[in-house]
Amino acid sequence: MNIRSLLLTITLAGATLPALAERPLYQNEDAPLDQRVEDALSRMTLEEKVALCHAQSKFSSPGVPRLGIPELWMSDGPHGVRMEINWNDWGHSNWTNDSITAFPALTALAATWNPEMSALYGKSLGEEARYREKDVMLGPGVNIYRTPLNGRNFEYMGEDPYLAGEMVVPYITEMQKNGVAACVKHFALNNQEKWRGTVDVDVSDRALYEIYLPAFKKAVEDGKVWSIMGSYNRFEGQHACHNKRLLQDILRGEWNFDGAVITDWGGAHDTKEAALNGLDIEMGSFTNGLTSESDFGYNDYYLADPYLNMLKSGEVPMSTVDDKARNILRLIFRTAMNTRKPFGSKTTEEHYAAAKRIGDESIVLLKNSGILPLDPAKYRNVLVVGDNATRVLTDGGGSSELKVKNYVSPLEAIKAIYGPGVKYAKGYEAGRSMYEREDTIPESVQAALREESVRMAKDADVVIYIGGLNKNAWQDCESTDRREYELPFGQSILIKDLVKANPNVVVANISGNAYEMPWVKSVPAILHVSYLGTMGGASIADVISGKVNPSGKLPYSIPVRLADNGAMSFGTESYPGIEMGGGDKRQGWGNNPVQKYKEDILVGYRWYDTKKIPALFPFGHGLSYTQFEYGKPVVSSTKIGPDGKITVDVPVTNKGDREGSEVVELYISDLKSSVLRPVKELKGFDKVSLAPGETKTVSFEILPEALKYFDEKSHSWVAEPGKFKALIGASSTDIRQTVPFEYKE
Ligand code: BGC
Repeated sequence: MNIRSLLLTITLAGATLPALAERPLYQNEDAPLDQRVEDALSRMTLEEKVALCHAQSKFSSPGVPRLGIPELWMSDGPHGVRMEINWNDWGHSNWTNDSITAFPALTALAATWNPEMSALYGKSLGEEARYREKDVMLGPGVNIYRTPLNGRNFEYMGEDPYLAGEMVVPYITEMQKNGVAACVKHFALNNQEKWRGTVDVDVSDRALYEIYLPAFKKAVEDGKVWSIMGSYNRFEGQHACHNKRLLQDILRGEWNFDGAVITDWGGAHDTKEAALNGLDIEMGSFTNGLTSESDFGYNDYYLADPYLNMLKSGEVPMSTVDDKARNILRLIFRTAMNTRKPFGSKTTEEHYAAAKRIGDESIVLLKNSGILPLDPAKYRNVLVVGDNATRVLTDGGGSSELKVKNYVSPLEAIKAIYGPGVKYAKGYEAGRSMYEREDTIPESVQAALREESVRMAKDADVVIYIGGLNKNAWQDCESTDRREYELPFGQSILIKDLVKANPNVVVANISGNAYEMPWVKSVPAILHVSYLGTMGGASIADVISGKVNPSGKLPYSIPVRLADNGAMSFGTESYPGIEMGGGDKRQGWGNNPVQKYKEDILVGYRWYDTKKIPALFPFGHGLSYTQFEYGKPVVSSTKIGPDGKITVDVPVTNKGDREGSEVVELYISDLKSSVLRPVKELKGFDKVSLAPGETKTVSFEILPEALKYFDEKSHSWVAEPGKFKALIGASSTDIRQTVPFEYKE
């Protein structure tokens, strides 16, 4: 050995490792990524390249064993690292080392309106994923909340593209610092579970670009996400997982995505389209995506032998497999083959504290007559009613199911504060198995539980009701949509009866969705809570007792009636679509369903505002135990040009006697336009924490970008000269300050 190579040799605990510069270029982590990719590619056989492009088990894809290039291990996502799943079926592997911290659902994260919480989430979950030796976490999801019936809204970040976009970026950035790729899903237009594998979405370009794509775009351009998951549905007649327009034109062409496109499990349907249209890794084929098992050989995948044959026969060009291998190698180098990544950690005090903080900040106080918070010194005779007070809500829900190491239920946490004398009544039967339908539970069972809880309510000082939805099928659950807007299991009747027996009923419903509240007027206080994971019970109890002052705001509107929602108001053509026939007749798949997004750009509050249909609780709404006053804004200018900006400074004061945080929301309204525009659109927000009496100034920057709409003809974003207004408010309808300004070209 000469002196040079001697110097290049590092000796570690008796073992001798070649120094980086002595390794083949692709293994040298000091070399530029693309040079490493080209080097690895140049050493690979065609068969090795094709092997990278498809699964070898339910949650892994192969590397290149001959070259020491490791496999990719993936896991759901998005609220914690899922338990180990069997190699070749959906069974749980029953390992004893895979229990984790369950973080709040993404809809809760969105309700914090706090990008710092998003960063904390990504960091903590990334550390757990790293410790569990996962390379790709299948999440976060940023599909837009279009209808309250979508069974998967709880896995997404609400109805507004700006909010979802601002919240998704820190999650990705912090997670990826662990050498774990985020996999943003489901790209794109997977806004319902009914017929998700087949439904063909007909949406205008304007709604696509203004509503459904922006959060994905931010994930790619600002979050620099390393992987993205194609969705199950079709768009323009082609499945999203090999959709030319979505993957080639938009994702790679317009956004310069350099990561890997992974199918949703079973989302590939055609070798040639998959070869040509930019799909990189095929996973989960020939299963129904959730429950069915398959001994289907991995070599028979669309992107396995059939692809190899097409490449050999020249039916598809070799460049397609080189491009896929490049994208996959880049993903492997960034994750599995990154030897400099941290080691991660799991179920730590820090992670529990993170889950608790995010949960605390996510709870939305919808209404309060003044009964909340319930002073523990005053209330000892407390009755808790409702199945969700004890049900473990990290079970079920589909792929986001989690095996938690610890779970604090609301009942336990309430007892810890109000004493062991707290009584409990279940109130209703909510389904013992995942597929027990509401209408198969005998009414006599519900009546008996209802009567018991009403009897107990008469003797209590206060009733804390903890119901809502759960993670069973047809509720907040993957692969099925909800059947009705009303709360299931007779809860509306139950709540009404409880209030008749005792007017002091505090409702804290857990759900990842809006639901009907026919009892809204008679109940003195309502908390809207999402699935909060391991520490959820503690967050709920702390908000009820006042230890935590609520600061969450709704990431989606709660309409009075389902038909008030834009998508739902157009009937079946708009949701769930119409079966055209001649398609796949498998049960649950829908026979060639086609759906038109008839509400177009008017999604969520954009619809309620523009159509003047007041929501029961509007987007962005959320109260506090203190009050905030918004002072007069100071504006840098009342005119803005194409390269200019306006700053708006708003003083916000805590007028109450307890500390609290307020989300200050900025909306922009175009007063006159040649095209239909929503009355207002969210273009900024900031969460400030204020001591009693304290004032802080919230600063917003308005850039021309915030004034634009997507013009289909020119395929570009356009701001029209004329008058605008900046609206600063505590919700999308509670506007406190207005700043008029003008856009001049
Ligand atoms: C879901 C994905 C999930 C995948 C793997 C699919 O059914 O739609 O969100 O990541 O399964 O479990």
